[in-house]
Amino acid sequence: MNSLYQTSIHSLPLLGHGKVRDNYAVGDDKILIVTTDRLSAFDVVMNEPIPGKGKVLNQMSDFWFEKLGHIVPNHLTGVAPESVVAPEEVEQVKGRAVVAKRLKPIMVEAVVRGYIIGSGWKDYQDTGSICGIKLPAGLQQAEKLPEPIFTPAAKAELGEHDENISFAEMEERIGAELAAKMRDVAIALYKTAAEYAATRGIIIADTKFEFGLDDNGVMHLMDEVLTADSSRFWPADSYQPGISPPSFDKQFVRDYLETLTWGKTAPAPALPADVIEKTQAKYFEAIERLTGEKLKA
Ligand SMILES: Nc1ncnc2c1ncn2[C@@H]1O[C@H](COP(=O)(O)OP(=O)(O)OP(=O)(O)O)[C@@H](O)[C@H]1O
Ligand SMILES: [Mg+2]
Repeated sequence: MNSLYQTSIHSLPLLGHGKVRDNYAVGDDKILIVTTDRLSAFDVVMNEPIPGKGKVLNQMSDFWFEKLGHIVPNHLTGVAPESVVAPEEVEQVKGRAVVAKRLKPIMVEAVVRGYIIGSGWKDYQDTGSICGIKLPAGLQQAEKLPEPIFTPAAKAELGEHDENISFAEMEERIGAELAAKMRDVAIALYKTAAEYAATRGIIIADTKFEFGLDDNGVMHLMDEVLTADSSRFWPADSYQPGISPPSFDKQFVRDYLETLTWGKTAPAPALPADVIEKTQAKYFEAIERLTGEKLKA
């Protein structure tokens, strides 16, 4: 499979390269978002592409936008990405891009956790809480929480790490009304998605949503949704509280990186070929298990 590490589209003005996505302006009210095959771990972009990963992420997001459209409006316009670039650039956008409404990003990320893992597990062991939310005593690693919890994070500038903030801090930053709306919508999205995923034998342990406002101040779901980059996906059949479960997401790469003596700052260490291959296999397995369909070319 061909890979795309970085786009070079000259028919549209470049807005910027994110860690994973390249954004271009389409007129003054839309953007072309191309999901590349770059992989970021611990907020550092690896040097090697994971072939096809961008297509997997884009098609997963599309799948969820469709499934969750009744809960909140989203950024999709329905305009075909192929129609806004030059003919020789079509190959770069095929299967891995969307033309989205250009929104004003809300600078708080909406993290929802249904299970206790990762930084949440560390926080709980130290404080008995996650991001200041008190939890029952005696929870084990990877245990299901009594109810999903909302733990906002301040969106970092490029090269910085996102920072967990309290709900009160979120209210101060964006206003109480919008904060409450974001929390309620994020929890509803998570619950609906988790219920569906369960029918496919997948646990969504946690996830992160991003929202933006249109010119009328209407809140939209944007960016990527419930992908293997923004979520932890666990196979339900090997789930067991007390151990960190195997997963269909980039935990595999993180685990590899943890075996190195690397300070988790750029430059990234080289990824061996077998790590790239296994990571690719995880992403492909994730989309097939989730949607029941193979990746579209
Ligand atoms: N509809 C939209 N309107 C405006 N900005 C958007 C929209 N959808 C997504 N974005 C923004 O585009 C960027 C996508 O790039 P990408 O995800 O690669 O960047 P990143 O956020 O730096 O990386 P990471 O996701 O690892 O934190 C993000 O900053 C995201 O908030
Ligand atoms: Mg992003």
